[in-house]
Parts: sequence; C-alpha cells; structure tokens
Amino acid sequence: MDRQLIKHVFGRTDFGSAVTVAGWVRTRRDSKGGFSFIDLNDGSSFSSIQVIAPGELANYQSDVLRLTIGSSIAVTGELVESPGEGQAVEIRAAEITVYGFADPETYPLQKKRTSLERLREIAHLRPRTNTIGAVARVRNALAFATHRFYQERDFLYLHTPMITTSDAEGSGEMFQVTTLDPASPPRDLDGNVDYTQDFFGRQAFLTVSGQLEAEAYALALDRVYTFGPTFRAENSNTRRHLAEFWMIEPEAAFFDLDDNARLAEDYLKYMVRYLLETCEEDIAFFDKWIDDSVLATLTAVVDRPFERITYGEAIDILGKADAGFEFPTTWGSDLQSEHEVYLAEQAFDRPVIVTDYPSDIKAFYMRRNDDGTVAAMDVLVPRVGELIGGSQREERLDVLAASIDRHGLDADLYWWYLDLRRFGTAPHSGFGLGFARMVAFATGMQNVRDVVPFPRTPRNAEF
Ligand code: 4AD
Ligand code: MG
Repeated sequence: MDRQLIKHVFGRTDFGSAVTVAGWVRTRRDSKGGFSFIDLNDGSSFSSIQVIAPGELANYQSDVLRLTIGSSIAVTGELVESPGEGQAVEIRAAEITVYGFADPETYPLQKKRTSLERLREIAHLRPRTNTIGAVARVRNALAFATHRFYQERDFLYLHTPMITTSDAEGSGEMFQVTTLDPASPPRDLDGNVDYTQDFFGRQAFLTVSGQLEAEAYALALDRVYTFGPTFRAENSNTRRHLAEFWMIEPEAAFFDLDDNARLAEDYLKYMVRYLLETCEEDIAFFDKWIDDSVLATLTAVVDRPFERITYGEAIDILGKADAGFEFPTTWGSDLQSEHEVYLAEQAFDRPVIVTDYPSDIKAFYMRRNDDGTVAAMDVLVPRVGELIGGSQREERLDVLAASIDRHGLDADLYWWYLDLRRFGTAPHSGFGLGFARMVAFATGMQNVRDVVPFPRTPRNAEF
C-alpha cells in the first residue's frame, strides 16, 4: 500500500492528487446529504484528518455506517482543500477498507473523557487517547534529544549491565535475580540459602543505577552516558516513584561539581528547546487540558539561568518559610518532595541546583568536602521536585574506603570500584536523570504512571 502518515498529508498542498492513509476512527458523523465525516488518527500527529465518505461508496451501507470509535480502516481518495476552519486539508474517499470494527458495547474507549486512573487499567488501549498518544510522542522527542545532546558533546553511549552484584546506591533497595526454587532453596550447614548454587554462583540483583560501571568507562574513555532501565524495590506508592524506570547517566572524567552542574543545566535546556520546536501541538494540548503552567514553565527553563544554592542555604530558606511542611527542615534531615517543590516553585520559580549535602543522607561514593559535607548536587524542578541526582565522585582511595566502611557496606564487593582509585585515579563527576520524571515535568502529567507505557509499581505489573 502506498500509504502516507497523516502528519505528512497535513503538509501537502497538491489538491486533486491521490492520497492513501490508514488509522483508527475517532468519530463518525453522518450528514443529511447521505455522506459521512470520519475523523481518522494514526498517532503520527495530535490532529486527526477529516475524511469525507460519499454515500456512493460500494460499502457505504455495509461498512461505513458501522464504523465507530476504534475501528481500523484504510482510505484512498483525493486530497482536497478544507473549507472549514482549523485544518487545511481533508480527504474525499474513493475507497475505504475496513480491517477491524470495535464493538461500541465493549470497546472501553468512548468519546467522553476516560479518567487517567481507569486508563491505567487498559494500558494496552490507552495510547489511542489524545493524552497518552501525546505523552508517547513527547517521550520519544526527549529520548532523541538526549542522544543528540550527548553525541554532539563527544559523550560515548555506554550499555551498562542490568543484572549486577553491586548495590550502586548502597541502599539495599534491589530486586533479587535468582533461578533457585523459592519453595526449597539449597541451604548451607548454617541453614542459610546457599547462593553458590544459584545461577551466578552468588546473589545477584537488578541494577538500581549504571553509575559504578559508567565510572569505569569514564576513567578510560573520558565521557560516557548510559540510557537504560533501572529498578528500585522501594515500596513507595507516590506519584513520582516507579519500580522500573529509565535513567540517563552521564559520567565525565576531569569534571568537577561545577562542570557537572553546568552539564545538567545545558542538557535540560537542550531537551526542552528541542521539545518546544518539535512537539508544538502536543505541548499546546498539555497546556490547555492538563496543566496551564506547562508552556510558561518550559519556556522559563530555556530562557532563564537555573538557581544554585547549597543545602545549608536551602535549609535556611525552608526554615523561614511559612509553608506548613509535614517533614522537618533542620540541618541533617533529607529534603522531602514538599521542600523540593517549594524551592523550585515558591522560592525561586525556576529549576534549582542544590549542592553540598551532609554526607549521612547521601550515597557512599560522593566526594567529601573539607567541612564534612559531600559534593552532591540535586536538580529540583517545579511540580516534580528532584529530577536529577548527581555528584563529584570520591577519587581518593583512602577516603573512599573509609566512606564505604562508614556506610556499613562490604568493601569486598566493591574491590573493582576501589581499583579505579588504585590505578590512575582522576577527578570525575556525573549524574542521573529519571526519565519518567522528565516526561512528567515536560507534559504537566501529575503521575509518573501515566508517562511510562506500562508502569511497574508495588502490587502492579499487569501487561
Ligand atoms: O538520585 P538517584 O538515586 O541517583 C542515582 O541513582 C545516581 N547513581 C545517579 C548518578 O549519579 N549517576 O536517582 C537519579 C534520579 C532521581 O533524581 C530521580 O529523577 C530518578 O532517578 N528516580 C526515580 N524515578 C522514578 N522512580 C523512582 N523510584 C526513582 N528513583 C530515582
Ligand atoms: Mg537522589
């Protein structure tokens, strides 16, 4: 079939020429004059194209009048200039082929708006809605912009393993990977599970981050980035946590914290600029129907420099805020999402990079400052809070070994990570951007469950 995607048909002006499209019916309206209007969508653009189906079509009675929302068809006809407002082109059908009807009695998507909660239960059909279709296109644009940004800056795309034996964050929130029989695992003399008989000869897990492996490659190839799935077995049922999400993790040799912060700001600005250029119609939809601050927030990301403050300054600001926080804002307490959102929205009204956190609330690998804080940085954005977490890494062998110890971790498991400091160590830095949170930020969608095609959360892995 010599078919065109609908978005390309919208760009045509050769009226009178032949055109073929295919897709799923959004609406059908029958005119008194004995013909029908069909809005057809193939997901290539937000807008559907209008098809005029004349009553003379051979299958007008048998097929066209049975078309309902969700039916799939191909249309061949003539490109005509649209008399109506809005769209410039429409198609006068000469032939309509039906591939599949969608019984309106049982097809769960009807013209009236379906709630986002209900759509999660039919995640296999929800990409056919305006909202989830637009999310998918935005997600794609952000992914493409990510690769372009890093490739233009000589970062090498690195694939780090998904199965690992090291806990990159040292927080123990990992899913175990095993082929042992859970009902009767082999046991050692003490009665403990004998993992030497497991698939990998030891306990293995799904990775929480590719960072440690990325460091190994950065300390050989200078600049790398990962873009892949990561897994967290934290039992948090919030609107910004998933058990499986994709992360982008750049890691660069000879970068200090300041270089790292600049990279993060440049990256975010680049992604948003690309999005505004390529997904105009989708962003306009989100701004109109999902959150009327989306466009202004995104434009501000591009136009204004990010704010930079230390954790200490953040604590001062939060302590003086009269915002009725649920969690404490005293030195040493971790910033909660309510605090992060306050800083990015109320306090500064733009993305904020918070640096130099107390070591106790951050991961073991972060570089220790002279005052006992660590060279950490979190990038906080309106609505979402923490979007990026990163740091300069501890490159001094003795200081790193002491930190592993202080965090109560088993130094033996990190032997190869310590080797990177034993042999040709160098200052280096990196960060991780949670891709689901980025898509939520870019679209104004409240819940990360609605920006990931098939979300995995506690007690939910349907599809
Ligand atoms: O702050 P995190 O835990 O940092 C790391 O994993 C570092 N190893 C990254 C690095 O320096 N290379 O996670 C990074 C980001 C967070 O800022 C957040 O956006 C996202 O990952 N994230 C989650 N997104 C969805 N669901 C979860 N459960 C998430 N946990 C973290
Ligand atoms: Mg973090």
